[in-house]
Amino acid sequence: MSKNEFKISLSQLILALSDAVDMISPVLNNHHKQVTYIAYNIAKQIKLPSEKMSDLIIASLIHDIGALSLQDRVDVMAFEENNPYYHTINGYILLHDLPNLERAAEIVKYHHVPWQDGGGKSFMGDTVHIESHILYLADRIAVSINRKDNILKQTDKIIKRIKSQSNLKFHPDLVKAFEDISKKDAFWLDIVSFCIDKKLNIIFNKYDQEVNLEELSEITAVFARIIDFRSRFTSVHSSGVTEVAETIARLLKWSEEDCIKMRIAGYLHDIGKLMVPTEILEKPSSLTKEEYNIVREHTYHGYYLLDNIDGLEEINEYASFHHERLDGTGYPFRIKGEDLKEGSRIMAVADVFTAITEDRPYRKGMNEKNALRVLEQMGKNLSLDSDLVQIVKENFDIINRKRINAQKRAAEEYEEFTKKLEKVKKKYTA
Ligand SMILES: [Fe+2]
Ligand SMILES: [Fe+2]
Ligand SMILES: [Fe+2]
Repeated sequence: MSKNEFKISLSQLILALSDAVDMISPVLNNHHKQVTYIAYNIAKQIKLPSEKMSDLIIASLIHDIGALSLQDRVDVMAFEENNPYYHTINGYILLHDLPNLERAAEIVKYHHVPWQDGGGKSFMGDTVHIESHILYLADRIAVSINRKDNILKQTDKIIKRIKSQSNLKFHPDLVKAFEDISKKDAFWLDIVSFCIDKKLNIIFNKYDQEVNLEELSEITAVFARIIDFRSRFTSVHSSGVTEVAETIARLLKWSEEDCIKMRIAGYLHDIGKLMVPTEILEKPSSLTKEEYNIVREHTYHGYYLLDNIDGLEEINEYASFHHERLDGTGYPFRIKGEDLKEGSRIMAVADVFTAITEDRPYRKGMNEKNALRVLEQMGKNLSLDSDLVQIVKENFDIINRKRINAQKRAAEEYEEFTKKLEKVKKKYTA
């Protein structure tokens, strides 16, 4: 396949991220999808211009991405919100580097600004787009649903609650649009339907954009930051793994296109970690069996999240099989020997290499001698590919230097990110 032919769907890609952050708890299951469905229908009712629809859909799908811990996520599900700007501006900081999605990031930034009789047209001197108000209303409708109870039993109460906030929290025209669409039982049944994916796919197909290999690389670099920056403990991990995996692929003289695929796989390899609560990622003592089981699930879920993206099959195998072992003792699929592509074997080596050589807040990384001892042992007992271990041994300095530099850059970015967050926290929670 030539480089120009590589195309994947932007909505499918964003949906994978959306699903990943909602899988963190059953309480949040489908929240982003539900909000997207509601926001789209309100936008359609007020005839939002179609060129604005795509950004609204993307923003809705990941609007709470800035709520980093499980507790943060649960907090923003309360109808009467407490300090909402922290997660919205954090979301903006994480997303505004996404190519061509600046407007989506701005929509996320102000998705909790109340209308206040028109005062909510701007916030601290910035314009608040109408899409942010749509998203806000859609979000508050979604959090008003009691998931344990029959939906049609609740609709009157929800409509009443929303109407009571017309012109206060919510733009009155949008409340009116909501009132109109909420008369249909199907609107409510769709929101809680197990077929919500099917409903959303029809919408996505109408407003989707295609992403080529270079764009995918840029977007997934931002994903890697979202995955890593949830915690200081993981803040530079994906950057290191990506650099090591790509460097090995280049040493093996892979084509330019395949090296970019390897890089993308590196960025995505721990996407399933988004569903591991930061409370577990940052636990200072060793994990209980139950907590470790949650961590182990990350490659299983990562695989199926990425499996929903058409055209990403090869990259997914490189990314998601990094805990599989040649001798069939890995997880979660216990794939053996020749069934593991070279890309998957490289990722496994890159993940181990990075994990043992990188510094963590609670321990120093290993030196060359110790790291090689571990890798060679794993090559000998056939858990890693011994030919690849040999390549690493022969090129240890180059690979390690590249890893250190990439992780240094990531650490600087992380420091900048936490500084920005501190500022936001001070400004909006004072
Ligand atoms: Fe929110
Ligand atoms: Fe939300
Ligand atoms: Fe992993």
